[in-house]
Amino acid sequence: MTEYSWTYRVEDVDLEELSQLYRIAPLGDMPPEELAVVFGNSMFTCFVHCDGVLVGAGRALADGVDCAYIGHVAVHPDHQGGGLGSSLVRRLMELAEGHKKIILYAAPGAEKFYRRLGFLPMNTAMGLWSNPDSAVESGVLSRA
Ligand SMILES: CC(C)(COP(=O)(O)OP(=O)(O)OC[C@H]1O[C@@H](n2cnc3c(N)ncnc32)[C@H](O)[C@@H]1OP(=O)(O)O)[C@@H](O)C(=O)NCCC(=O)NCCS
Repeated sequence: MTEYSWTYRVEDVDLEELSQLYRIAPLGDMPPEELAVVFGNSMFTCFVHCDGVLVGAGRALADGVDCAYIGHVAVHPDHQGGGLGSSLVRRLMELAEGHKKIILYAAPGAEKFYRRLGFLPMNTAMGLWSNPDSAVESGVLSRA
């Protein structure tokens, strides 16, 4: 069975490797400097290594009482489909336990994955993106 080791401190992670993980997952281009800020400002962070290689990551931005936002969840393609992504989200849900709501938006197509973890679609969720055109194109935002 694959041995995974879990860490919870961004200081223990190579940010170049994290950036590479998001590129190949794929989740997008995220420079190491941006990831340092994003993960540094998140209350909960989760990383999974296998044989010294970073194979999974995720984070939750949380206020400690009301709302936690889960984002940047990705699993290395060689490790997808084996339950690691679900374990990562469940771990973040446990860490954020006690918040009145835990929210996220799924990459188009990944809704089923989150639905199985207990998330329900939000009827009134709305977003203001700095680059709405690409978000509309990818299906994350709608102008309808
Ligand atoms: C989404 C992701 C984290 C899931 O990780 P994982 O380890 O493969 O997840 P699990 O093995 O726990 O669950 C896999 C299940 O989710 C489904 N699933 C996962 N990602 C999916 C996607 N993008 N579209 C459709 N279904 C998806 C799989 O079909 C599979 O379902 P099955 O068991 O019925 O075959 C991983 O696929 C990934 O990193 N994708 C690229 C980045 C991304 O889209 N992140 C999500 C941001 S919202």
